[in-house]
Amino acid sequence: MTIALHHLTVETPSHHYPIVFGTGLIAQAGRHLAPYIKGHKFFIVSDDQVAAHYLQQLEVSFSEMNLERHTFIVPAGEASKSFSIFERIMNEMLRAEPDRHTTLIALGGGVVGDLTGFLAATLMRGVPFIQIPTSLLAQVDSSVGGKTAINCAAGKNMVGAFYQPHAVLIDVGSLHTLSKREILAGYAEVLKYALLGDAEFYTYLLDHAEAIIAKDADVLMHIIRHCCAMKAEIVAQDEKEQGRRALLNLGHTFGHAIEKHAAYDGTVLHGEAVAMGCLMAAQLAVHQGGISRVDYDQLHQHYTMIGLPTHLSRDFSHHHWDASQLTDYCYQDKKSERGGLTFITLNKIGDAQVTKNMDAAIISSIFQEFIA
Ligand code: GLY
Repeated sequence: MTIALHHLTVETPSHHYPIVFGTGLIAQAGRHLAPYIKGHKFFIVSDDQVAAHYLQQLEVSFSEMNLERHTFIVPAGEASKSFSIFERIMNEMLRAEPDRHTTLIALGGGVVGDLTGFLAATLMRGVPFIQIPTSLLAQVDSSVGGKTAINCAAGKNMVGAFYQPHAVLIDVGSLHTLSKREILAGYAEVLKYALLGDAEFYTYLLDHAEAIIAKDADVLMHIIRHCCAMKAEIVAQDEKEQGRRALLNLGHTFGHAIEKHAAYDGTVLHGEAVAMGCLMAAQLAVHQGGISRVDYDQLHQHYTMIGLPTHLSRDFSHHHWDASQLTDYCYQDKKSERGGLTFITLNKIGDAQVTKNMDAAIISSIFQEFIA
C-alpha cells in the first residue's frame, strides 16, 4: 500500500523526467511506469541480492501489461561495474533482439544503476532507461542526474556517459532490507549534500542521527527528497559537470583513491570511502582556515555516534594504507587538469568550492593523519 506519493521533476537541457517518491512503489511499478515504456519489450537489470527481495514483485506489477520482458542478473558488488560484465550483459541483451524503444529498468543500488545506465546509453546507440534505486546511496544521489559508468584499470567510473533516465521511482520501503552498514554508506552521501551546500540541513542531520539509524520512515523520506531536490537544482544548471556540479564530488577524490587502494574488493564500500573523504575534506578545511576545530570535532563526534568510519588504519585494518600511494591515485581523478590535483574544498559548513592545483604534500599529510 502506498502511504505517501511525492513528485519532483528534473529539468536538464537534454531531458525532463520525474522522480516519484513513496512507499510500496515497487509492487506498483507497472502502473507508475507504463507511460514511460514506449516499446513492446523491456529489460530488467538487477543483482542477485536485490532480485531475491524485489524482482518478483516488480515483475508481477507488469503482469497485466502486454509487454515482453527479459531479466538480467549480475553479482552484487562493485566488481559488476566492469568491462567483462558489461560485455556479457550487452551480448545477452542483443540476443533478446531489442529495438530502439526497448526500455531498460535498473532495479538495485548504485552499481546496478550505473551499469544499466551505461548499457542503455550504448545499446543500439541509446535506448530509454528507468531507475528504481533500492539503496539509500542510489536514492539520494546516483540514480538522479544521468551519470552512468563502469570501472576500469585506470580508475573508478573512467568509462561512461552522461545519459539521463526517463523516470526514477524511489520506494523508500526498500530501505528496510538494508543492513546498518549499507544505510550508513548511503548516509555518507546525504552528509555530503549538507556539507557542500546546506548548513540548515546539516543541523537537521545532527539532530536526527538516532532516527536515521532507526530507519524512521518520515525522516528518511525527508532526507531523500531534500537531497534529490538539491541534486535536481544543481544538475539543471550544469548537466555535464562543467562547473557547479563538480561540488557533488566533495570527498570523492579522497574516496576514489581509498577505493582504488582497496582494489574494489568489497571491504570498503563506496559510501564508506566517501564518508572518509568528507571527513578528510573537513580536516583539510581546518588546516586552510575554512572551518573551525569545534566544527570539525562536532562532525567527527557525529560520525562516531552514528557509526561512520573515522580512521583508515583502525576501521579498515586489513589494508596496509600508504599516504603517498593514495595521493598518487588522486592524480587519476577525472577532475584533474594538466597534471594538477583538483579537490572540492569547504569554505565553511554548507559552502564548498572547486580548488585547482592543490599541493600534493598537503593532501598526503591529510591521508597520513587518518593512517597514523
Ligand atoms: N554523484 C555526483 C554527481 O552525480 O554528480
